[in-house]
Order: sequence, then structure tokens, then C-alpha cells
Amino acid sequence: MAYEATRHADLKVRPRRLRLSQSVRRLVRETALAPDDFIYPLFVRHGEGSKRPVESLPGVYQLSVDKLAAEAREISALGIPAVILFGIPECKDWRGTENFAEDGIVPQAIRAIKDIEPDLLVISDMCFCQYTDHGHCGIINTPDNPHYDPALPPGYLHNDHTLELLQRASLAHARAGADIIAPSGMIDGMVAAIRSALDSDSAQHVAIMSYIKYASAFYGPFRDAAHSSPQFGDRSQYQLDPANQREAFKEISLDIEEGADIIMIKPALPNLDVLSHLRETYRQPTAAYQVSGEYAMIHAAAQRGWLDLERAALESLTCIKRAGADMIISYFAKDALKWLGASRD
Ligand code: PBG
Repeated sequence: MAYEATRHADLKVRPRRLRLSQSVRRLVRETALAPDDFIYPLFVRHGEGSKRPVESLPGVYQLSVDKLAAEAREISALGIPAVILFGIPECKDWRGTENFAEDGIVPQAIRAIKDIEPDLLVISDMCFCQYTDHGHCGIINTPDNPHYDPALPPGYLHNDHTLELLQRASLAHARAGADIIAPSGMIDGMVAAIRSALDSDSAQHVAIMSYIKYASAFYGPFRDAAHSSPQFGDRSQYQLDPANQREAFKEISLDIEEGADIIMIKPALPNLDVLSHLRETYRQPTAAYQVSGEYAMIHAAAQRGWLDLERAALESLTCIKRAGADMIISYFAKDALKWLGASRD
């Protein structure tokens, strides 16, 4: 007993002192979420007066262009500085033609948002999976298309032909007023190709946010929302293997060398190691994408009463920021700010 008493008396450092009350916790808190941290994803579709709920993403809608004005006003009023756009085309084909059409769904959406809220940054997701009939992120080596090369494996994603399409589509989106192009296809050389296309078209002011994207199961609900599931195979020939960390670091250095302005890690929560390395080592503006599956999981568990929606969402977002994200793309962005506005702990 004497021994115990001495030991306790020696305990000068008691970290619990700084956890005792709400006020002291607020005082020592290292990470606080704010409107400036967020980017809100929007799905845009053709048609008029359309606001279609996405079943697997509660509270998320596919919106027609005329519905964007009200949405943009709400997002701006919450203080969120940026949105990222995903287009759902009218027609799909082998090379995703609508993605580089000057009047495609995304250029229309960009113009509509800029008309109403010129200061709201518009980021355009730059990928072909929503636009191709096979659902892959570029041109696929099949005998029915003009780029077929029998020397390449069947089903191979043609890297360099895809780069040309990415250049054309990036120009179409930049001309419509996109502030940031966000290539998400994990195509080799995509940042350099897009940078040179933008620079040769008087768009040197348009920034590039490059995705470091894992081949993840957590994109399931997004593929419902954007109708972008691959019709055969999967995306492992171009997206990163979740088992690999060094490979992600290599992609990060390449993207920075090629001129990426912002690097984004996706999905966020399973890859906080990569996020934290990026922030510590490269000291570049760092983004994280809390993807559809991360959002849907929390909602599904909350619906069953197994998790507290608000606490689980805010904890995930706070920890993503703590790991190093300067900005977080999240379907929770609007709700998170409403919850934060309503509570003080
Ligand atoms: C590609 C793209 C995807 C997501 C964002 N951009 C889908 C994919 O790679 O299959 C997923 C985002 C999410 O799950 O919320 N256009």
C-alpha cells in the first residue's frame, strides 16, 4: 500500500487535467472543422426540374442544370468555397464523346453555377467512366474501335489515346469556366498532358487537382449515382492496389513533377497513412475524398441505430483533417456545417 501511495504522489503529469471540462477541451483542441475545409460533390443530369434521390446515398441527388442555382446558393451561404461536378451524360459510346462536347452536361452545369455564384469554385472531375458504354476510364483495346491494336492485350486501357481525350475534355470544361480540373482516371502522364493542353489554350490560370486513387470497394454507391460501373473486368489495371503504399508515394512524386497544384487521396479513411505522408513530406496542398462508401456505411449503420450519425460523421471528418487534409470532399459537407453550427462541443 505504501508503495502505491508513493507512486501516485509522484504522478505529476496527469494529461486528464486537460480533458476535465468542455471549456478546457475546447481550449486544447488541435483540429477544428470549418466551412473552408470542404468541397461538396454534385451530380448533374440532363432534363428539367429533376431532383432524383440516389438510393444508396441518403440526402444526395442527381440534379438537372436548372436545379443548380438554388443548390449553389445554399452551398455558398454555408461558406463552402468549392463544388466538384460529376456529369451523367445523355448517351454513352466507346470514347465518351459527351465529356469533350462544348455543350455537354458538365460545361452546361459550370456555366449555370458561375452565372449565379461566380465566387463558388467549380472543380470538374476529369474521367471517362460515366461517359463510356463499357464504363472504363478511357479507350479500351477492343476490335470494334479504330484504335484497336492486336499487339496489345485485349481489354487493355489505351493510355496515350486516353490522354488525348483527357486533353480535349479538360479544354471543354476550362472554356466553360472550370477553376480546377481534377483528373481521376490514374492514367500515366495525365497531369502533364492536361497541363500542356491548358497552357496552350490560354488556360494557365486553371489549376489541376490530381487524384491518387486506389481500386476500392468503397466506390460502390457512387457508381449507382453516376451510372459508371465497368461492364466487364474491374479498374485494377489502372487504379492503385490497396495493399501498396510505396506505389502511392511514387504516384504522388510523379504528379508533383508533372505540375499538379493539389494532390488528393481517395478513399480517405482507409488511406490516412498516405495522406499524412503526403502532407509531411511534400508540403503541398493536400486533399482527401471521403467517398460514397464511407458516407453510405455511416448512414446505413445509423439507420439501424448502430451508430450515432452526427458523431460518427464528424469524428471521421475531424480525423481526416488531423491526418493532414487541407480540404475534404464529402457528401457530409453541408450537414457537417449545420451540425457544427448547432453545437459547441
Ligand atoms: C471517377 C470517379 C469515381 C469516384 C470519383 N471519381 C468512381 C470510380 O473510380 O469508380 C468515386 C467517388 C465516390 O465513391 O464517392 N469518375
